[in-house]
Amino acid sequence: MSQDSVSPKVRSRVQQLREQIDDHNYRYYALDEPSIPDAEYDRLLSELKGLEQQYPELASADSPTQRVGTAPLDSFVSVRHEMPMLSLDNAFSDDDLRAFDQRLKDRLKATADIEYACEPKLDGIAISILYEQGKLVRAATRGDGTNGEDITENVRTIRSVPLQLRGDNFPARLEVRGEIYMPSDGFAALNKRAAEAGEKVFVNPRNAAAGSLRQLDSRITAKRPLELCAYSVGVHQGMELPPRHTDILHLLNQWGFKINREMIAARSIEQCIEYHRQLGEKRASLSYEIDGVVFKVNDIATQEKLGFVSRAPRWAIAFKFPAQEEMTELQAVEFQVGRTGTITPVARLKPVFVGGVTVSNATLHNRDEIARLDARVGDTVIVRRAGDVIPQIVGVVQERRPADAQLIEFPERCPICDSPAVQVPGEAAIRCEGGLICPAQRKEAIIHFASRKAMDVDGLGDKLVEQLVDKGLITTVADLFTLEAQAVAELERMGPKSAENLIAALEKSKQVSFERFIYALGIREVGEATARNLADHFGTLQALSEADEQALQEVDDIGPVVARFVRDFFIEPENLDIIQRLQALGVHWPEKSAASPDASAAAAQQPLAGQTCVLTGTLEAMTRDEAGDKLRALGAKVAGSVSKKTAFVVAGPGAGSKLAKAEQLGVEVLDEAALLQLLDKYGA
Ligand code: IVH
Repeated sequence: MSQDSVSPKVRSRVQQLREQIDDHNYRYYALDEPSIPDAEYDRLLSELKGLEQQYPELASADSPTQRVGTAPLDSFVSVRHEMPMLSLDNAFSDDDLRAFDQRLKDRLKATADIEYACEPKLDGIAISILYEQGKLVRAATRGDGTNGEDITENVRTIRSVPLQLRGDNFPARLEVRGEIYMPSDGFAALNKRAAEAGEKVFVNPRNAAAGSLRQLDSRITAKRPLELCAYSVGVHQGMELPPRHTDILHLLNQWGFKINREMIAARSIEQCIEYHRQLGEKRASLSYEIDGVVFKVNDIATQEKLGFVSRAPRWAIAFKFPAQEEMTELQAVEFQVGRTGTITPVARLKPVFVGGVTVSNATLHNRDEIARLDARVGDTVIVRRAGDVIPQIVGVVQERRPADAQLIEFPERCPICDSPAVQVPGEAAIRCEGGLICPAQRKEAIIHFASRKAMDVDGLGDKLVEQLVDKGLITTVADLFTLEAQAVAELERMGPKSAENLIAALEKSKQVSFERFIYALGIREVGEATARNLADHFGTLQALSEADEQALQEVDDIGPVVARFVRDFFIEPENLDIIQRLQALGVHWPEKSAASPDASAAAAQQPLAGQTCVLTGTLEAMTRDEAGDKLRALGAKVAGSVSKKTAFVVAGPGAGSKLAKAEQLGVEVLDEAALLQLLDKYGA
């Protein structure tokens, strides 16, 4: 196709689109004021891509479409920096900063305060980007400061890097220096995708940025959420720059570079110290990682007077924050049992100062996490504590693994009570099955036992249970009924009166129903409805506790999993002991003995005997629980799911799948009015 086949209209549209897209990039990155939604931006970009494909002669290296990467390189070419890329000296305290300031004043033979530019020290990769006649011609890593690597193709894919400087007043040659980094949200998303795909995750945003820039295939870099923040100018020819560093950065901003919005000019070293303190407080809320503050003499002529020592300028200094990551030794792994029986591996670490505190423990979450990290006892691990976050182990330094490093074995039994520890299918967690007898789970179990829908012990709240257990006054739920008012009265926020009340409430709770008692035992997956079904089906505690898994599965709504939990509970001798003690201490319920011929004959005469019903949706005149109680009083069984055997379904507004199932199976459906009629008919 020849040049003239492209109409002036297409040509100008392509030009217009490029300008619009560059404009939006500028607003988004340099000004931090996005003006259009992402979707609109994507639409402009895809229109431009389409036109460039249709008219290849319009292609241009600095079109915004050219950020997708090109064919992979064989290797990176070495580049010599015209001006060396220096490093920075460090200050470790406010006094170090004051000493630095004094050295400069002495050297300058000046007494007046020095003005400093204060900038966050970004935790990324230093980069040099060269522009000729406003066009990006080369980008290089810092390398050893003298020689770096040419990573132009990779850097061109980063949207916040201008491919062409904005405006028409810029140096003919300009080397911009800055930091390429990965913002925290992009880092989290990248790692999430990697973890889901079973790929290696990056230890921190800095490593992710470095790894992304080290790609020989720039198409990979193009997919990584990298950004550039400019912080200085290297070589520059053909135009004079402003006399102050902060003004130079504002000019870079006008040419299209993102600069740091936290940058300020401080009029004295004391203001610098204050800036460091304030930024330290703000650190955790920033959307990118910083590891300190850089202070630079703001006046360029003064910078030149001060010059350099070896590889660092005299006119700048870095004041780091406490490191958020450190290496230390993984000395042991202990297993803690949480309130719900979840067993969590906890790493015991050689104490290390990280993120401003001394860390000696960190969670390893679960067995999958240990496998992912491939952590072993004796390993050197990377511990991270950012902001207020709990310390995490983010990686293992494989090269430092000692020959005698020990594999971490997950226990097969609870470390506290020796009950089996099992992984529930579909869950990462491994749980102790000890239930009531496991001390770690005891508080939770006692709280549940006393709760309103269980034994309903008035006034026995979480805090009181904690105190009772911690003070050794109770170890099992049975001990509740041996409590003496005097001992209770001595607890925090208790007195003689409230102690008496508690004892009275406990006494009252002893009279309970069989179903509430079953529910109160806190067997896994046995909620109120299942407890009721178990009570109805077995009638007596003896029958229930002797039922095998097959017998249990005959109960409405009970499948193999729950049957297993119930069976496991009743074969633990300790659980049986506790139940016996409870009964001996006076806990009792009216037996619904299915074994008694009289009782079953009486039951058979109830109007809804033998009928199973299901309640779904909301009712107005009463709650579903109340409706269930009334139906049961008439002899019906109330089940949680609809089957062919269901006699009828009561459906209120909001009913969903249960109603659909009833309709599908042709089961009779009653609305609330029909239910009330039915109850009325039998005087319930
Ligand atoms: S100025 C001559 N400013 O810190 C001064 N450096 O040891 C050269 N860094 O690897 C650097 N944020 O990449 C400067 N606002 C900032 C910076 C910064 C991060 C990095 C830089 C270099 C290291 C200096």
